[in-house]
This record gives sequence, C-alpha cells and structure tokens, in this order.
Amino acid sequence: MISIQFDEQTQTFHLSNQQVSYLFSIEEGQVLSHLYYGKKITHYHGNFRYPRLDRSFSPNLPGAIDRSYSLDTVLQEYPGFGGGDFRTPAHEIRQSDGTIVTNFTFKEYRVIEGKPSLTGLPATYVNATTDAQTLLVTLEDRFRGLELELSYTIFDDSPVIARNTRLVNKGKEKVVIEKLASLAIDFPATAFDLIHLNGTWAKERMVTREPLNTGIKVLDSKRGSSSHQQNPFVALASPTTTEETGEVYGFCLVYSGNHETMIEKDPYDQTRVTMGINSFDFRWVLEPEDSFQSPEVILNYSDQGLNELSHSYHELFNHRLVRGQHQQKERPVLINNWEATYFDFDEDKLLAIVDEAQKIGIELFVLDDGWFGKRESDNSSLGDWFENAGKIKMGLANLSKEVHARGLEFGIWFEPEMISEDSDLYRAHPDWALQIPGRGKSLGRSQYVLDFSRADVRGHIYQQMKAFFDEVPVDYVKWDMNRNMTEVYSKNRSAEEQGSTAHRYMLGLYEFMEQLTSEYPAILFESCSGGGGRFDAGMLHYMPQTWTSDNTDAVARLKIQYGTSLVYPISTMGSHVSAIPNHQTSRKTSLAMRGNVAMSGVFGYELDLSTLSEEDKAEMKEQVAFYKAHRSLLQYGTFTRLLSPFEGNETAWIFVSDDKKEAMVFYYRVLVEASRPLESLKLRGLDAEKVYQMNEQLFGGDELMNLGFYIDPTLSGDYASQMFYLKEVAE
Ligand code: DGJ
Repeated sequence: MISIQFDEQTQTFHLSNQQVSYLFSIEEGQVLSHLYYGKKITHYHGNFRYPRLDRSFSPNLPGAIDRSYSLDTVLQEYPGFGGGDFRTPAHEIRQSDGTIVTNFTFKEYRVIEGKPSLTGLPATYVNATTDAQTLLVTLEDRFRGLELELSYTIFDDSPVIARNTRLVNKGKEKVVIEKLASLAIDFPATAFDLIHLNGTWAKERMVTREPLNTGIKVLDSKRGSSSHQQNPFVALASPTTTEETGEVYGFCLVYSGNHETMIEKDPYDQTRVTMGINSFDFRWVLEPEDSFQSPEVILNYSDQGLNELSHSYHELFNHRLVRGQHQQKERPVLINNWEATYFDFDEDKLLAIVDEAQKIGIELFVLDDGWFGKRESDNSSLGDWFENAGKIKMGLANLSKEVHARGLEFGIWFEPEMISEDSDLYRAHPDWALQIPGRGKSLGRSQYVLDFSRADVRGHIYQQMKAFFDEVPVDYVKWDMNRNMTEVYSKNRSAEEQGSTAHRYMLGLYEFMEQLTSEYPAILFESCSGGGGRFDAGMLHYMPQTWTSDNTDAVARLKIQYGTSLVYPISTMGSHVSAIPNHQTSRKTSLAMRGNVAMSGVFGYELDLSTLSEEDKAEMKEQVAFYKAHRSLLQYGTFTRLLSPFEGNETAWIFVSDDKKEAMVFYYRVLVEASRPLESLKLRGLDAEKVYQMNEQLFGGDELMNLGFYIDPTLSGDYASQMFYLKEVAE
C-alpha cells in the first residue's frame, strides 16, 4: 500500500509502502530537512526532530536572533551554498551578480498517481498509475525567481525511492547551472562503509569497500561515458553489514555520461551524499522560462545486507527500467566472431562457424567489427556504414539469408558514435568530430568521437543505419563505443555554452537510441563500450543487454560478474565462452569452468567453432541444451551471491525460481591446495519447508540453508567448478 502524506501539524512529508518510509520536514526558514529513510515506520509522531543547538562558527538564518539553528548543521534535502551551509551543495547556480548564493524555501507540493517520465532522459517507469505515487515539492528562490522541483517516486512493491530534480527559471535574467545534483541526502551521525565499483578496461566493477572517514570523497567520471573506471553506483553500509545481514543504502544514477558522487562526512559524523551529472566543467545556460531536468537516481535500502539490495535493483531494472519486446523474454544463445577471427574473415570462414553453431544448437550469429567501409583493422572506416563489398562476396543481405536458412538469427556490430580519420565521412565532414578549432585532436584507438550533440551529425548516421537495416535482415545489434571523449567542443555553440556539450551529447545519444529502438522494436540491442565501459542503468533503458567485459577469462569474470551483480540483473550481462589460452590473460581453464561462468549470464560463445575438437563441440552441445532448458531460471531467477571472489579462493552463487521450486548453484575454486580443509556451502533463498532433490539426494530447504552440503572432496585441479541443480520433490 503506497502512501504519501503531509502532516500539517508537524509539517512532515511521509512516503511509505509496506517496506520503507522516507520522511522529511519543513523547518525554520521554510527549509526542507531530511529525517529518515529506512525500514517502514507505521506512524511517525513528529518527535524525531533535529535538535536545536548553538554551534560556534555555524551561521544563522538572515535576520534570525535564535542562534540554535543553522543550515551548517541541520540535515537537509537539497542544500545550497552561501547561506550558512559550508558542506557540499546539491546545486551551484551562477547568477547575474556573479554569486551562487541562493535561498530556496518551500513553496508548495503535489502528489500524483504513477510516475511522470523525464523528458529526453532514461528513467524507471510504471505500467499502471496504481504502481507508484510521486511527490513533487517546489522550492523557490524569490529573490532570483528560480524554482526547484524535487521529485520523489515510491513504488508499491519495492524499497526504492526514485529521485530527480528540475530547475525552472521564472526570473527575468538567465542563470548558469554549474551543478544540479539529481539528489542530495543527509544522514544523521552514523558510521558507514563506502562501497563502490571501480576498475579499468578488462577489469570492470571491482568491489571496493572502505570505511568512510571525515572529509569529502568524490567518485566520478569525466570521460564522457559512465566509464570502466567508476560505475555510477555507490552504497553506504553499516560497518558490520554483510551480504546477508545489516543495513545498506544504494545510490544508482540512471545516466551514461559524466557523473559525480560526492560523499561528505562532516565534523559531527553526519554524512551528505550528492549524486548527478558531473559538475566538473559543466555549465548550462538557463534562459528565463526555460527548465533543466536532472537524470534520475534510484535510492535503495536494505536491512538484510547487500544481496537484498541487489534483489530489489534487479527486480526494478527487469520490470521497470528495461523496455520493449525483449524485456523479460529469454535471450538467445549467441556466437560472436570477434575473438574467433578479429578482422580477418570472409564468408567461408563465417559460414563455417555458423554451420558448427547450428549443430551445437546456438541461436544467433553475431558478425562483429570489420564488415563495413574498407575496414581491415581498427584504423579506418568508422562512419562509413555500408558494407565492405570485397569482404563478403555474397553481400551481407545474402549472408543474413544463409544464416537464417541455417535456423540462426543474424546480428551485426555498429559503432555509431565514432569516426575514423581514414573514412569517407571524415573526408567529407572533418568538422563533425569533437574538436577545438586550432587545437590538435587526441586520437583514441585511432578514432575520434562524433559530435552527437548535433542533430545533423546524428541524422546522417541514423540514415545510414536505417538504409542498412532496410537492406539486410537483422535480428540483433551490438552497439559499441571504443574511446572516451577529449577536446569536447561543439562547433555551433557559443563559448558560454560549451560546458553543456558533453550533456547535450548524451541527450542526443538518448534521442537517437529512442528513435532507433522504437523504429526497429524487434531488434535485440546489446550495448558495449570496449566491454563494460558503459554498463549503466541509462543504457539499459534502451538496450536490454550489455557486453559485460572484453575480459572473457573465466577466472577474471568471477570478480567482474560478482561486482556487476551488485546492481545490474543477470538478464543484462552478456557472458561468453572463449578460447584457451585466453586472449586477455593467457590462462587456460576447462570448458566446463568457462561454461559454468558464462552460463551465469546471458550465455554465448566467442571463438572459432570450426577449429575445435569433436569432444569440445559435443560438450558445448550439452552446455547449450542445458542452458536452454534452464534459461528462464538463469536469466530471471533470483540471483544471490554466496561466496565472494574478493574475499577468497572460492566463489559461489545461486539462482532460485520465483516459486522456489527449483534452483541452480554454481561453485568455483580458483586454486587447488593439497591437504585442504573440506569446503561446504550453505545456500540462500530456498523455501525452508520444501524438499529438494540434488544429485540424486534429498535435502530439506532449511537443511541446505543451515547445514549446507559438502563440496566434492575429490574435486581437483586449479580453476575447478561445480554446478548443482535443485528441484522440489514430494517426499
Ligand atoms: C570492443 C568490444 O568490446 C569487442 O567485443 C569488439 O566488439 C571490439 N570492440 C570490436 O572492435
């Protein structure tokens, strides 16, 4: 039961459902003060108020004689700067007098059924207005004629609160937005651990956990994408929180560009978080009557550890973020030719792979990079999205036909946002690449980034892609992005407006993807940025899958997939079996190990099937049949982490069906040890009352969760893995 109440007497807003409450009040000076977010409070009596206390060097409101109330210390909902609060502000709005000082006070509120969409930006949504309620609170700065609209959505079946902010200029003069966080929140004195996902290429989303100390911690991306380096997600956990127990707050930004999370612990141990578009080098000129919309942050809460936090993110993303025909549909098992051939392919090579794929039971063939322009290496042709006629002699339309004739779907790779110097497009439009007139342009992978903030540039690429799709039957598209932005400047924009280019690029990209995915709803899109360099909730709104990492090594993938699963559902994680020695790490792991890791995601293969032994192919055939038989459990079952690769030699996780009648457990051990202790594993998420059959043996659900079971003591060798299928039986 969702409820949004405003109590006139205590001047308190209370958003609640069966799981959580979110409380804030209007305090002196009409300032919004944060009170609480956490486990549901049935009835708030209004007595948990921020105590009044005169703190030295903490200024008071203009004109106030009372020294016990200061913006410097009170817990706030959306703080500014310059009126006595010296902590990190949620916004910085440069005005005609050169200052960023504002005084936003409560003006009005309204509650609406459902959840409004965010113009031009990806966001969570509801299918029926009864699924959520949204509180819109308007604050005003009367002096400057500015209004802030703070939006809070609470869903009927989830502990999350979705927040965003809109600034409306109702004044007579333009202002320049230098920061407009999607959200700010102040927590009372609490000890927190900060958890975040960082990394680099081939090593994305490593889980980092550190005690939060006094001072400011900034986690951001200035790369023009959400980045391999810092995912737009953070969590604040109680120091004793584990995967299974304890309190934790999650913050996930639904945005794919430059982002910034500032976490400040003040001298009184209060913690402030602001999250949104990166304020570094951001400037948005807001003319009178104009408004600016921030992206959305999905705030999440669990009092049962990190797994529970992940469950609610997964549930929300599967049902209320991902859209279209493929949402909640079983995803095909694919074979991608990238690691099989790189640029060196022709139709014979490709069809030899497809022939083998057909025998193995694979459902989708993906032709990766190298089919267009005159591309034979990564030095040319980006921007020339017409086929490289010399390469596939029969033509891509016929290749697609041949693939379809073999019973597989046909998929293709694009990198629409890029341009090679050696391309027809660059020769015709050198000015379409992001660049600063007169300065050198930095290359990355020998390519430049197209200025997607420009409608004419986007329009040209769109037409090329459309012409291609009209010619070649395509069932799947891998949308890649292989470098970050430098020399960010847009030709037709004034100097004052250049600080908006990176965000306008994202708006342009979102518009492009919205149009393309609506025009071709049957195509399954998978986003990619050199692997998982843009694995974020923004992209998932348009493309239901993401290529998790270019690192296909099974051992490396344990950490990558474990970290990714903190926020993103398994149905979104592309995961492939590749050749040994592995191309990124040179490690050799068994086909069983590679299969068991890749099956814990959206499964596929990425190696030359035509050169494999009959034995390997027979094993793959079994893997594919097994995955297909259990695909809905593996893509959409409740995924729970059991043993962390960040903490030891073993990793384990479990998938449980919604009705808890079946489950799949994966166990992995990286290095073997002689005379080792006997490992046992306790499961989670089963029905304690049910009886399950596992490997011909019967176990009660509570037995498996409380006693667990022994891992086969004869399991030998490095990079070992085991998989266990559990099914309910009548005893
Ligand atoms: C980077 C991707 O992550 C790879 O899978 C592959 O598509 C290459 N780009 C192709 O250039």
